Amino acid sequence: MTDQIDNVLHENRVFAPSAEFAATSSLTAAEYQIRYDRSLQDPNGFWGEVAADLTWMKPWEQVLDWQEPHAQWFAGGQTNIAFNALDRHVAQGLGKKRALIWEGEDGEIRTLTYSELLAEVKRAANALTALGVVAGDRVTLYLPLIPEAAIAMLACARIGAVHSVVFGGFSVGALADRINDAQSKLLITADAGYRRGQPVNLKANADEAAARTPTLEHVLVVRRAGTPVTLQEGRDLWWHDTLAAADAEHEAAALDAEHPLFVLYTSGSTGKPKGVLHTTGGYMVGTYLTTKTVFDLKPDDVFWCTADIGWVTGHSYTVYGPLLNGATVLMYEGAPNHPDWGRFWQIIQKHGVTILYTAPTAIRAFMRQGDAIPAAYDLSSLRLLGSVGEPINPEAWMWYRRVIGGDRCPVIDTWWQTETGAIMLTTLPGAHPAKPGTAGLPMYGIDAAIVNREGEELGPDEGGLLVIRKPWPSMLRTVYGDDDRYRKAYWGEIPHVYFAGDGARKDADGYITVMGRVDDVLSVSGHRLGTMEIESALVAHPSVAEAAVVGKPDDLKGECVVAFVLPQAGQTVDPVSLRAYVVSQIGALARPDAIYIADALPKTRSGKIMRRFLRQIAAGRKIEGDTSTLEDPGVLERLAATAVV
Ligand code: WT7
Repeated sequence: MTDQIDNVLHENRVFAPSAEFAATSSLTAAEYQIRYDRSLQDPNGFWGEVAADLTWMKPWEQVLDWQEPHAQWFAGGQTNIAFNALDRHVAQGLGKKRALIWEGEDGEIRTLTYSELLAEVKRAANALTALGVVAGDRVTLYLPLIPEAAIAMLACARIGAVHSVVFGGFSVGALADRINDAQSKLLITADAGYRRGQPVNLKANADEAAARTPTLEHVLVVRRAGTPVTLQEGRDLWWHDTLAAADAEHEAAALDAEHPLFVLYTSGSTGKPKGVLHTTGGYMVGTYLTTKTVFDLKPDDVFWCTADIGWVTGHSYTVYGPLLNGATVLMYEGAPNHPDWGRFWQIIQKHGVTILYTAPTAIRAFMRQGDAIPAAYDLSSLRLLGSVGEPINPEAWMWYRRVIGGDRCPVIDTWWQTETGAIMLTTLPGAHPAKPGTAGLPMYGIDAAIVNREGEELGPDEGGLLVIRKPWPSMLRTVYGDDDRYRKAYWGEIPHVYFAGDGARKDADGYITVMGRVDDVLSVSGHRLGTMEIESALVAHPSVAEAAVVGKPDDLKGECVVAFVLPQAGQTVDPVSLRAYVVSQIGALARPDAIYIADALPKTRSGKIMRRFLRQIAAGRKIEGDTSTLEDPGVLERLAATAVV
């Protein structure tokens, strides 16, 4: 992180939108400013106008009802996000437009027009209803990145069931915990998905999880890979059989604006992952507006957000945002390096992708493979590049712009979170100059500030904490089943503002640079992992007595996992089995890159582990800071001399 800060501090290149791009842009910087100012001064007027672009079955009575820390947006109104994403466009004559172009890792291609996607979603909605799923019930999705993932999400939304998507790379334990926390009635999974040419057997994990999740009544299984599965009589059903038997007609439910839309689990600094709850109306309005404005969407765009559907980026910018705008979405199932590192560029060339939205970790990986690979493909269809998920180092930003964007496409660096639902900070590609490594300006309605722990606003270029001072439509409403945690984690740290958990600074032009988490949350390849989560997995292993986890800067992944473990008396820790154990508890993302087997951990006299020193040791840096509060200061030297396994 220090290197990153240094890089950004010495970065002063600025890239204005090209005349060509600006000419097609729907907005100038001055127009942005007028709209932005209005959005803060008159949020009711501003958001009411945006929401009026969409269809409501019953108009709202009040745009915003704010009782800190609980917001209700469009209260009294009724709508349906799936209706707005599909039926609305079909009714307006877009039925033949492509909604989804899907490419499997094995090269299979499927295209669904808006009419075809709507037809699938209607059948799926009827199928869910036939299985006894009603509005408010939770449905867990554990799927590869295939069209059925989007179909299942939209079918849930259509009937008011709350989807909880669990990333297919998560382990049995993580899946079972999330099903139990949400108390889901139904699990939708697949036989297997493809990853680097190998089928990943999701159904086998689903079976193991289902044995520990008493609320599950049924498991719907999509046939994707054709691998053998056993269906448990009475519990499991094939997706295709169930849909074939379902009625083709379906009317979208009129749902209250604050009806829950989805739960998505994300890591926090304490305890188990939090179920971030988003609701219907505000999330719909937020993802609709940001997709349209931030990507300056045009009718013939082919929009490719490379995130898996298991993350919020996949929710907001593969499914809801683009479809709410009637755009054509590209979806790719597999790994970026299968069969080789040209796969993304081949997809762009083949399908004429115009907007690419991906993560810094992927950009760095491509960069390492050299310029010759992308140069072998025709990338001239691209007109805009986006980055999301973690800070992007200026070097990677420059490479993205030059090699992928041909020095022609603007690059936008969008900061947001699972909790924010939609993009919060970015430059607008046709209106604002971009600065490598710096996200940029607040989106409409977003009152972002940099403050200290007391909540006092800091001056230009002073590093501090990123907070949001006013509610916004797509904000999380609570932590599912734990409102107290919602209050404390987001609104209890700094008085009367939303605390994002990130460190940031703002320059004299108002551009905000987000530096990274200031809490005990790691960002591994742009994915959030709580240090506590990994520590709990480590100490659950019979050979481990105590554990502390910290992040270490990593050229490719941004951060990697470093574990310090204290063996149980009389036991030896086998690093191979310990790593495998963590993977089985959480998933491959959490696998420790380095393990230090320690004889003690650096603790204060009151028993608090001083992770600051562990971070320095992990990074191979000199120990800095006051070590006098340590119970046994000698522990640091011994740890620094310990061999990493
Ligand atoms: C955390 C949120 C946003 C969807 C994907 C991640 C980091 C995200 C940026 C960016 C610097 C960023 C922050 C944030 N982050 N985008 N453009 N620049 N940092 O969602 O898993 O909820 O993680 O990702 O640390 O708090 P998430």
